[in-house]
Amino acid sequence: MRIALFGPPGAGKGTQAQILASEYGLVTISTGNLIREAMREGSELGEEARGYVTSGQLVPGELVRKLADSAVAAAGFNKFILDGYPRTIEQARWLDSFLRAYKAELHGVIFLSVPDEVIIRRLSKRRVHRVTGESYHLDYLPPPRDVAPEDIVQRPDDQPEAIAARLRGYRRETEPLENHYRETGLLREVNGDSSVDVVHSRIMRFLKSSPVTAARKAG
Ligand code: AP5
Repeated sequence: MRIALFGPPGAGKGTQAQILASEYGLVTISTGNLIREAMREGSELGEEARGYVTSGQLVPGELVRKLADSAVAAAGFNKFILDGYPRTIEQARWLDSFLRAYKAELHGVIFLSVPDEVIIRRLSKRRVHRVTGESYHLDYLPPPRDVAPEDIVQRPDDQPEAIAARLRGYRRETEPLENHYRETGLLREVNGDSSVDVVHSRIMRFLKSSPVTAARKAG
């Protein structure tokens, strides 16, 4: 199965990708995580990306493309879930032709829709583990008691100005993907404004429908 999740920042892409990955044995390819990893390692790519990420802007596409393409290739062009890639029409065209070249086209694209006020509530109270990157929410999913409080931090791009910049960037650059994938017949819009379990069951309804079912049966 080869699927992509897209939606506004804080829509729950990472949360749902993690659940689906463990349920179906998929590799999660999150360009956000790959970029943060590169930043932690202090690689050239990470240093180039840092200013964009911290201020809530998209990282230049060519940098992200390299990361995404190698991760898809490392997954063997199958059994993966893309989280946050593609995020522009340009990236979608790159991805579509890259996958076509390996006869590994996507089976479905899930668009998680969530209103802005919910996004702001989710992101302003999100906390992450500074080493593992595990994500929590102060109200809905508090960090376990055995985790040292000093290890729980706020992402710099979860500050109010960066959240606003990410939402503006999303409207301008990512929203057009909705039509792009609607036209290809791959898109399924899922209401992401409910509990994690309810959103998951909505996604499952889509995954149980063809053509994703056929893909599951084929492995
Ligand atoms: P990335 O990390 O991908 O950020 P994002 O897309 O803004 O998404 P988030 O991780 O903020 O949110 P999410 O939708 O995964 O929600 P989550 O499940 O965590 O990218 C970061 C940056 O990297 C970008 O801004 C850009 O600079 C760069 N980048 C990445 N990809 C790029 C690309 N393709 N091109 C160019 N640049 C790129 O949930 C959020 C919170 O809500 C959590 O606290 C969670 O616990 C909680 N939550 C989740 N679901 C629910 C629910 N149903 N109910 C209540 N709370 C919930």
